Amino acid sequence: MNSLFKSSYRAFTNIALIKYWGKRHEDLFLPLTSSLSLTLDAFYTDTTVEFKPNAKADVFILDGVQQGVELTQKVSQFVDLFRETAGMNMPVTVTSINHVPTAAGLASSASAFAALASACNGALGLGLDNRALSIYARQGSGSATRSLFGGFVVWHKGEGEDSQSSYAEAIDDAEWDIGMLVVIINQQQKKISSRVGMAHTRDTSPFYAMWPSEVEKDLAAIIPAIEAHDFETVGEIAEHNAMKMHASILASNPSFTYFEPDSLVAMAIVKELREQGIACYVTMDAGPNVKVIGRLSEMDQIIARFKHDFKADQLIVAKPGSAPIELKA
Ligand code: PMV
Repeated sequence: MNSLFKSSYRAFTNIALIKYWGKRHEDLFLPLTSSLSLTLDAFYTDTTVEFKPNAKADVFILDGVQQGVELTQKVSQFVDLFRETAGMNMPVTVTSINHVPTAAGLASSASAFAALASACNGALGLGLDNRALSIYARQGSGSATRSLFGGFVVWHKGEGEDSQSSYAEAIDDAEWDIGMLVVIINQQQKKISSRVGMAHTRDTSPFYAMWPSEVEKDLAAIIPAIEAHDFETVGEIAEHNAMKMHASILASNPSFTYFEPDSLVAMAIVKELREQGIACYVTMDAGPNVKVIGRLSEMDQIIARFKHDFKADQLIVAKPGSAPIELKA
């Protein structure tokens, strides 16, 4: 759907296997460490951007509802990055639909800003590549940096205050036997946003001092394991990395946690499955939902066990997803 000043894109979310947790520069969204993720096909955002020379103000419509000042301002500030690049100041109308299964309540900022960056680029005819767009997406939400690519993606932390050096890169198309089961524990908005949670952990957790070097080690080990399609090593490193992040969060002062009782139930099921010889691993982000990294060929067995403790609509299988795709009319 690309006419003059109008473009539509679909971008997929991603889940980090090696987490981003802490910034070194708040305004530029520069991270303290690099991170690595898997893009997922099951959760995505469709966004249409249209620049309107005769409109009076920016408009943001999300899931059919026109948004208020706060969210519209966030979108406007992000679109400003593109307006500055293009050297124009036309008002924009942004229309987004989040395709996250209704019960999911998963954060959608990664797919949202990746879709918005792609559609701004299309609407303004800037011709930026996905690496350049990942630098823009980063300034909407850190994890969005990685949604400009499909499969396994590294987000390089970059150097000093050099925004251009902190971008994402695809390292493997993930077209092998790997996927995720997302276990929906709670669909409420997260109580402590990732922005607040990561700053609090960085500033008050004595364990955080260890986090950057642990991430370096985990990245150095997981990249060759991904390249070798070594599922078990990938899963073990990812699970350990997530637990180190959540341990560091627990050790912050005052302490907090994203775990809920059912998160622990899901984690226990994963351990039990492993003891029965089905390799699967846990990762969790800034919320109670549990993501189980599993072989796609064993997902039916994994789901069958989860169904003893969770309802079918709490269980969503995701396969590796692609880079953003242009939506034609
Ligand atoms: O950029 P944000 O605000 O979506 O933060 C992402 C934080 C984690 O999801 C916990 C980790 C990550 O790397 O995605």
